[in-house]
Amino acid sequence: MTPRFTEAGPGDVPLSVLEPATLDEWVAGQPARIAAWVRATGFAAGAGETCLCPDTDGGIAAVLCGLGDAGARARARFTVARAAAVLPSGSYMLTEGLDPRDRDEAALGWLLAGYRFDRYNAAPPAAAHLVAPEGVDAARLEAIAAGEFLTRDLINTPASDLGPDALEAAFRALGAAHGAEVAVISGDDLLAANFPMIHAVGRASDQAPRLLDLRWGRDGDPTLTLVGKGVCFDTGGLNIKPAASMGLMKKDMGGAATVMGLAQTIMELGLRLRLRVLVPAVENSISAGAFRPQDILTSRKGLTVEINNTDAEGRLVLADALALADEEAPDCLICMATLTGAARVALGPDLPPFYTDDDTLADALARAADRVRDPLWRMPLFAPYETMIEPGIADLDNAPKGGFAGSITAALFLRRFVERTSRFVHFDIYGWRPEAAPGRPKGGTGQGARAILDALPEILKS
Ligand code: BES
Ligand code: MN
Ligand code: ZN
Repeated sequence: MTPRFTEAGPGDVPLSVLEPATLDEWVAGQPARIAAWVRATGFAAGAGETCLCPDTDGGIAAVLCGLGDAGARARARFTVARAAAVLPSGSYMLTEGLDPRDRDEAALGWLLAGYRFDRYNAAPPAAAHLVAPEGVDAARLEAIAAGEFLTRDLINTPASDLGPDALEAAFRALGAAHGAEVAVISGDDLLAANFPMIHAVGRASDQAPRLLDLRWGRDGDPTLTLVGKGVCFDTGGLNIKPAASMGLMKKDMGGAATVMGLAQTIMELGLRLRLRVLVPAVENSISAGAFRPQDILTSRKGLTVEINNTDAEGRLVLADALALADEEAPDCLICMATLTGAARVALGPDLPPFYTDDDTLADALARAADRVRDPLWRMPLFAPYETMIEPGIADLDNAPKGGFAGSITAALFLRRFVERTSRFVHFDIYGWRPEAAPGRPKGGTGQGARAILDALPEILKS
């Protein structure tokens, strides 16, 4: 499924976006018939309200779409996209009522509302199509939506069809589609190549653990490395998760899915940068060979790690991948992971925290998040909590006792593996929508990718 705007044509239905404050003025400028209809239907331009206005032959003359007042707009995203789901089949053209920022969001939201996860059953395709509104960069929005669709598909696909083997296949397909180089280190080769923690976490699965590595772009351009947690299923390992917590763990490769979606967008747009994508792809499974509580692992970087909970596996596989990324000190290093339940407790499912020491990078991300309405929240790498990740008989503890500040201590753990790269940022994402919202069905969802994309020019400026 490829998200696309439709070509303009004579039968396009005009769609006006209206807000309560200016509705009366708008109605006053309409023919009496339309004005009477709008009043009769009770349309008040509230957020997500739609009104179909008939022409004299019984067809649809125009569609009105409510944006709500300023307060409603601050609370909701993709308000106009709600119309995409409820309008009858046809082509629609946004004619008035949106400033450039809202227009971009409305157009993107419409494309995103066309997503269907139809791998396991047929879903009727989107019926209401949108002509690219004047002033939007249609190709860019289509590339963003296509990246998001890839992310959603990968997250929604269960582990029965998306174990490490299939994630590798998807990764190779992504590289092949854009002329990127892909290298993969699997199974015991991980030990020979010094990725001991990726191996330890993934070795109990029937599908070998592996490190996926993609490179794309021209030498000499600014370098960006994306690292994504690719735990295809997280049982918790020997510290097995209770049923309720395990229920959603097909999504534990959400970081990998998000960086792969972002990489696809970047390559599709042909951005001037040198991209590397690293995904440790494993299944945190249970068998006689599984790693155990109190094992001490020596990481790629040489730091020793005491395992105090096999369910804190994400930081282990990421640590080895980040250490590799850091060896070539890219201009910017971005890590995305469904890393902790604590991040959800702190900020809920829709507001991913990010961590960085670089204030300029943090400001660029926060401003971009606001600009493109892809919410993010900076959280602190609070130095006094470093002692929580130091167990005594090894350099690091993967699961501090007490569980205080779980998202922060996980971020502090990752930072120990990044020394040479000054612009490093880690996102503790959720990757899932618990309920459907306009443009975003229930299920896998990208987070942060659009903000990162928008911030890139600023981030990669030396
Ligand atoms: N994949 C989970 C984190 C997670 C859980 C993300 C639920 C989103 C929703 C991760 O591997 C994990 O199990 N983390 C533990 C760490 C703890 C044992 C220190 C957690 O957050 O409970
Ligand atoms: Mn876990
Ligand atoms: Zn996990």
